[in-house]
Amino acid sequence: MTQVTLTVNGKSVSRDVPDTMLLSEFLREELRLTGTHVGCDTSQCGACVVHLDGRAVKSCTALAVAHSGSAVTTIEGLASGKALHPMQEAFNEHHGLQCGFCTTGMIMTGVDMVNRYKAAGKTLTPEAIRKELEGNICRCTGYHNIVKAIEDAATRMDGMAQAAE
Ligand code: FES
Ligand code: FES
Repeated sequence: MTQVTLTVNGKSVSRDVPDTMLLSEFLREELRLTGTHVGCDTSQCGACVVHLDGRAVKSCTALAVAHSGSAVTTIEGLASGKALHPMQEAFNEHHGLQCGFCTTGMIMTGVDMVNRYKAAGKTLTPEAIRKELEGNICRCTGYHNIVKAIEDAATRMDGMAQAAE
């Protein structure tokens, strides 16, 4: 067992865990943050995506102890109080989900891609969104409304940045 300390959704947490514990297991089983889903455990589906030090990662590919000291944001930490994040609002309004199993991973991946494109001054086209979603599998929607939601959220997140200036 090794002690791991992480800042998860803005709060510091410490646990003694096996060295083999995945970050996805740490979040779901130690912290009961079950919004992070596990669809494959083999790095294919993207249902487990969280933000690790601000970048999207598949939490089933990361060992919890290897990231002690890092900051993690899960879907539970994305909203500001009762106000949904613009990406969550856009998924809701564009019906970017059906069963919802992939949705948290899609949203966390979507936020990361918008942030990266904005930081690079690049336009996030529907084609770019589809390419960026290569690591996220959805069995239900056909992706069309997911792409529309992320495209719309990119505009909404512009508004967010301007409001903060
Ligand atoms: Fe991590 Fe599928 S559970 S990629
Ligand atoms: Fe069901 Fe995507 S909404 S897997």
